[in-house]
Amino acid sequence: MKAYRASILYFSGPAEAMLESDGLLVVGPNAQGRQVVQAVGSYRQLASCFRGVPTEHLPGRIIAPGFVDMHTHYPQLDVIGSPADGLLPWLETYTFPHEKRFSTLEYSAQIASGFIAELLRNGVTTALTFATSHPASVNALFAEAQRLSLRLITGKCLMDQNSPDGVRDETQRSLIDTEALIQRWHGVGRLGYAITPRFVPSCSAAQLRGAGELASQYPDVWIQSHAAENRDEVVWVRQLYPDARSYLSVYEQFGLLRSRAVYAHCIHIDDTDRALLRSTGAAAAVSPSSNLFLGSGFFDYVAADRAGFLYGLASDVGGGTSFSPFHTMLAAYYVGREGQTKPGVSLRPQQLWWQHTAGAARVLGLEGVVGNLLPGCEADFVVLNPQATPLLARRTAQAGSLDEFLFPMIVLGDDRVIERTVISQAI
Ligand code: GUN
Ligand code: ZN
Repeated sequence: MKAYRASILYFSGPAEAMLESDGLLVVGPNAQGRQVVQAVGSYRQLASCFRGVPTEHLPGRIIAPGFVDMHTHYPQLDVIGSPADGLLPWLETYTFPHEKRFSTLEYSAQIASGFIAELLRNGVTTALTFATSHPASVNALFAEAQRLSLRLITGKCLMDQNSPDGVRDETQRSLIDTEALIQRWHGVGRLGYAITPRFVPSCSAAQLRGAGELASQYPDVWIQSHAAENRDEVVWVRQLYPDARSYLSVYEQFGLLRSRAVYAHCIHIDDTDRALLRSTGAAAAVSPSSNLFLGSGFFDYVAADRAGFLYGLASDVGGGTSFSPFHTMLAAYYVGREGQTKPGVSLRPQQLWWQHTAGAARVLGLEGVVGNLLPGCEADFVVLNPQATPLLARRTAQAGSLDEFLFPMIVLGDDRVIERTVISQAI
């Protein structure tokens, strides 16, 4: 067992954060030998129960749940900041050519290690990420996550059409490879597999059908894809499926909308689509920095909450511009203000933070496992320094409420605020 004395941030309910200003976090092994939270609360109340437990004192620091990134692309580590006239030219010009490099384990392993290092530097302790269409890219990332004991979900990208040589896969082979990767990696330690059709234009009907069959055969495996990100993409899907009611309904038709299915973006959708997300339990990964960078549009928070479907925050690196959850939360705030529905909303700091931690964990079916620091949660956490920069020190010192304390960190924060990232280990 080990204890940490610091200010402790955790969630008592949806979007309801608590800051225990002089707190104690006690971590120790569960029945399976994994480090989990044993107790959290005020130092004054807990210290006597845990006398004798080695305690690290971190004055002036905040311990908070590790962030959860619901959608990202590890092969796009070196694609970040590639400008283009929207999604489709960006894919053609930079992304597809770059992803061709991941056919070898050596190259994939090198990028996997750089990618995970960036996640950790930025305080992200759980990620759902795309790999490329090459099984080697999946093996390399899982191996690195396993080495570090990181909770990570990924999958081989399915893309058997409208994609160039070098990344395009073959329908039958892609499904056989997917099943073999599920059997090799899903549920091994903290690793999870996600069936990964890239998006409707890049997958034949046979490939989507096969993906849907695997999804029903392996119900606790995740699904990840993209939906309704960009207007040109939506027009393309309409041409491919003229009889479909909407872009999302194509995924429905192939059995790809269910709980544990995460669709990045979901911008150009209507209320029938929103009701479909809600009734199937599928979720949206809101990727605001990507949407602003590629000029894709604005996720409609008001309509999403009216419909009541699940969503959480994501970086979408490399369409997204940063690994930092602070940057993503700030971009989400801008999107809320600008909004599709007028007037815009002012997302509260606690809401934004929840959407990138415990809320995102809930969307992934990992509530009570990661994203929070309540007893039983895996001990993935960050140590934050609210004085990391002179301006941040000034602003946080003047806070009169928790929201006034969290907001300057969202607005001014970056990797300098993340002093340490701790990953739960198995003993
Ligand atoms: N749609 C299909 N592939 C991609 C991708 O790699 N990034 C984004 N943002 N959208 C996509
Ligand atoms: Zn994406």
